[in-house]
Parts: sequence; structure tokens; C-alpha cells
Amino acid sequence: MTGLKAGIKEGSGGERFLTEIEDLQGVGPATSEKLYEAGFDSIESIATGTAPELSAAVNIGEKSALKIIRSARDAADMGYEKAKDVMTRREQVERISLGSEALNEILGGGVETQSITEFFGEFGSGKTQIAHQLAVNSQLLTEDGGVDGKAVYIDTENTFRPERIKEMAESKGLDQEQALENIFVARATTTDHQMLLAEKVEEMAKEDDIKLLIVDALMSIFRTEFVGRGALAERQQKLGKHLATLRKLAETYNIAVFVTNHVQSDPNSFFGDPTKPIGGHVLGHAATCRIYIKKSKKNTRKARLIDHPALPPMSAKFRISEEGIRN
Ligand code: GTP
Ligand code: MG
Repeated sequence: MTGLKAGIKEGSGGERFLTEIEDLQGVGPATSEKLYEAGFDSIESIATGTAPELSAAVNIGEKSALKIIRSARDAADMGYEKAKDVMTRREQVERISLGSEALNEILGGGVETQSITEFFGEFGSGKTQIAHQLAVNSQLLTEDGGVDGKAVYIDTENTFRPERIKEMAESKGLDQEQALENIFVARATTTDHQMLLAEKVEEMAKEDDIKLLIVDALMSIFRTEFVGRGALAERQQKLGKHLATLRKLAETYNIAVFVTNHVQSDPNSFFGDPTKPIGGHVLGHAATCRIYIKKSKKNTRKARLIDHPALPPMSAKFRISEEGIRN
């Protein structure tokens, strides 16, 4: 926390950006604070700024401003890459089985690395059960539907249950204790905490073979911390930063990011289900694919693919059993 002075809210997320901004060439603590206060609160915002704007905002010469902007452009990595390189990266995508072939099928084979997959639905629809199943399945070998990796579980609702992991692991033929060893769990209490926990995954991914990052549930703390219409803009801005972290982790470390989400009533809906996921456009655009799950008869559930860059909307049925998620 360098260069923090009064006037910048503690815990607003500003500290992190100040440190990032300070790393830019030609920016000291005083300049970074002025930039932040003038609304240049991210590397990207500086990179897309103009020299006269920056120069006026922090009272420096345009030449120095340009130097800062150039440095931000380098740091922001906003350049192009060849389609071939994109292809090479896509070829590294791996898929984690959800435990039900029908469910895998509507997702093109399972939950993909390098993507953010969102499952949303009302309480008891099975989101947390699916998250547990993925934490187990990610440890399986490729031929068994896994990615032979470890999982990180950010729990915002205190519903992670190691006992359930053991049950699911046993039915998949995994050693129960080993399965627990391979899942790193943290209980998030505030949105700042949740964001910090996500950022920490970067260090973990450098040391360990982390292949799956679960946030269950993505929006619950955001929703309780930012109440009312007045807080919405701030919430969405913060959510955007959180999602940017998740996306970067997914892409840089070939991790599958799996988030669960609740629904709210949608007054604009005339047809079909009058509910929609929380999180608005910020989340809608960040999630690579979204699946809506709904309770059906007994233990059965219906899943519908809502949004996917390459697959048509499809539906599937699955059930939640003692062993876990099944057809
Ligand atoms: P919220 O977090 O409250 O929004 O719900 P959720 O979507 O996360 O639901 P969750 O995954 O917690 O699903 C709970 C449901 O899973 C229960 O109502 C049960 O039907 C089912 N379930 C949970 N554990 C077991 C189990 O051990 N055996 C069986 N057969 N079903 C289970
Ligand atoms: Mg849950």
C-alpha cells in the first residue's frame, strides 16, 4: 500500500490500482494519487487517455504525460496478435466433465478452461452441488473426464462441504483424502476479500497445477454490500474489476472459471421464465457461457444453455444423487 493518503477510500480497490499505476515509468506516489483522483484509476484508463488530458489532470508537462501513457500502453498489453497464436491457445483448451453426459453435451463436452462459465438458478437448483462435482472431476485423468489438476473454491455462502467431496470422490474411484488435499478452499466475507482471494490465485497457479477456480456464489456478497439503486454503479464497477481478474486468470493460466449466480425477477419478461441472473450487462458480457438450471420432478433438474459463442441454445436433464451429478 504505497503512497496512500487520506482522501482515497480505504478498501475501495483504489490501493491496488495505485500500486499498479505507481509501477508505470515516470509516476511517483504523488502523481499516482492525483491520477487516481482525476479518474485515471486503471492502467487502461491511462493508456486510452490523451497527453493534454493527463497533463491537465496532474499538472505535468505534455511530454511527461506522453511518457506515462506510453508506459501504460505497454503495461496494458493492448496490441494485436496473430490468429494463429489465438488458434494455438485455443488448442490448449481442456474440458472438465460435469458428471452428466447430457449436461456436458450442451456445453460442447464440459466446462472449458480459458473461459468463465456461469450457472444460474434459484435456491436448491443444484449450483453448489455442481461446483462440488467439478472440484472433484477436475482431479480425474483426461480419459475419465478430468484435467488432472487442482481446484480453488471461493465460498461466499459458507456452503462448501468436505463430506460431500469425499462422497463424490469415492464414487469416482479417487482417494478421498487426496481429493481433499487437491482443493483449496477460502470463505470470502466482503467483496474486497473476495477480490483479493481471486487475485491470490495467480501466485497459486504459478506453483501448483490449478485447473479450476470456483466462485460460489459470485454475486451474493456484492448484493448485500451494495444495497439500493444509488450503489448500483459502484457495485458494477467493482464487479467489472473482479471479473477482469477472473478472466485474466482463465486465459493466462489455462484455468476453467466456474461461477454460480442467483436469479432475480425480470419485470420486462413477457414470455417464459420471469427471472434473470443478477449482475447485469457487466456479468452478461464477461461470462463466456451461461446455463440456467431449474428444479424439476424429484431429484431431476433441467439445464438450458443461454449464451455461448459457438453453440446453439440447447437443453438437458440431469439428476442429483448420493454419488453426485448424474444423467
Ligand atoms: P442456493 O445456493 O441456495 O441458491 O442453492 P444451490 O443452487 O446451490 O443448490 P444446491 O446445490 O445446494 O442443491 C441443493 C439440493 O441438492 C438439495 O435440495 C438436494 O435436492 C440436492 N442434494 C444435495 N446433497 C445431496 C445428496 O447428498 N444427495 C442427494 N440425492 N441430493 C442432494
Ligand atoms: Mg449454493
